Amino acid sequence: MAVSVSAIAGVRLNLGNGYPIPSPTRSRTVVTMAVSVADNKLTLTKSEEAFAAAKELMPGGVNSPVRAFKSVGGQPIVIDSAKGCRMRDIDGNEYIDYVGSWGPAIIGHADQQVLAALNDTMKKGTSFGAPCLLENTLAQLVIDAVPSVEMVRFVNSGTEACMGALRLVRAYTGREKIIKFEGCYHGHADPFLVKAGSGVATLGLPDSPGVPKAATYETLTVPYNDTVAVQKLFEANKGEIAAVFLEPVVGNAGFIVPKPDFHSFLRQITKDNGALLVFDEVMTGFRLSYGGAQEYFGITPDVTTLGKIIGGGLPVGAYGGRRDIMEKVAPAGPVYQAGTLSGNPLAMTAGIETLKRIKEPGTYDYLDKITGELVHGIVEAGKKAGHAICGGHISAMFGFFFTEGPVYNFEDAKKSDTAKFARFFWGMLAEGVYFAPSQFEAGFTSLAHTSDDIKKTIAAAEKVFREI
Ligand SMILES: Cc1ncc(COP(=O)(O)O)c(C=O)c1O
Repeated sequence: MAVSVSAIAGVRLNLGNGYPIPSPTRSRTVVTMAVSVADNKLTLTKSEEAFAAAKELMPGGVNSPVRAFKSVGGQPIVIDSAKGCRMRDIDGNEYIDYVGSWGPAIIGHADQQVLAALNDTMKKGTSFGAPCLLENTLAQLVIDAVPSVEMVRFVNSGTEACMGALRLVRAYTGREKIIKFEGCYHGHADPFLVKAGSGVATLGLPDSPGVPKAATYETLTVPYNDTVAVQKLFEANKGEIAAVFLEPVVGNAGFIVPKPDFHSFLRQITKDNGALLVFDEVMTGFRLSYGGAQEYFGITPDVTTLGKIIGGGLPVGAYGGRRDIMEKVAPAGPVYQAGTLSGNPLAMTAGIETLKRIKEPGTYDYLDKITGELVHGIVEAGKKAGHAICGGHISAMFGFFFTEGPVYNFEDAKKSDTAKFARFFWGMLAEGVYFAPSQFEAGFTSLAHTSDDIKKTIAAAEKVFREI
């Protein structure tokens, strides 16, 4: 969901007062990137050197695009280690981390209990390509927790989970069209890569070269929270829509909450039209509550996709749902889907230990409290310094936009001042706070964040807001 702040061709950008955005490295020459903050100089010499080398080895120097900091200019910090809610880069700078590996780290990084369990499991082998007991344990935990899930299939990423769910809903309904919402991300499989902004009944156009038109032809897109647009699509495509896919709370266009009737409307219209409702809970699963967004909002979809937290920091995804739907998946049924490393013992172990921890009483009250304090503190500090800003949170997921708001969909989100966000991002980094390097990503807290971390973050924000 990258939106560039401006062209950054080798110049040191200064998008206003203070906090210039460091220029990207063009060669292996070592350039010290110093963010000009009076009493807090961020030196990123080693990061820059490592990233220059990385760019020769991997496309854009990264293995996932948003890590490259394109939305905020400059170049990424290269991480050496992470513990609890802190990350340390290879230059020795330490940050309070609100990315949490993009969601999995809900109990904090390198948790002792998870590491010990991984160590024990590892001694028995890292992958069998055959059933193991740990798969049963994690499956039972997921089924017990997530209201819609009666059976589950583990895969290795959220992308795979959404791909599997898509094939399944098409096979189950015998229909091919799906509705997805602008700004929602369901991984990088072809049918989900559809340009946002196409009108109500417009057929999708591929969002990336290499995606054939045929792959997205059956993907219909509408703005998030727009019930009228969904209704029109169902009327125009009677008996043809297999499923509605959505992020029940959007995280991939920034943090956007559903209007009060949105989920119940989707539940009803899918039911009335013989279509399935798919909650993509890769991000919200076990984050908004132990039973995910569906438990939080009290709406039960037909199929759910999961990822991130259920792998506890190792690569895991899953899709699950009603038994009669899931029994269509091979080898119980004819819908083919497979994976060499799916259900491997290490990933299952990290997931099991993570879920055990967050299942403990008080988890979500604590997460909601500290996250509420964080967002309230940041938004109030921003307003006090004269900035247009709005934000919100649910449990351990949050976000804020540099616009007055309200933000109900991706178009609203795009009204944000992304150049100001970039200055804010670099200012906060210089103060030792690591937010997602894009205005259009949600933030995450964890059980490892303390009230003291939140206070430090707000104090840093107050300072940065005065200077951007
Ligand atoms: C809602 C949602 N679905 C799917 C995905 C894809 O997951 P992965 O990156 O594990 O492939 C993501 C990733 O951020 C996501 O947020």
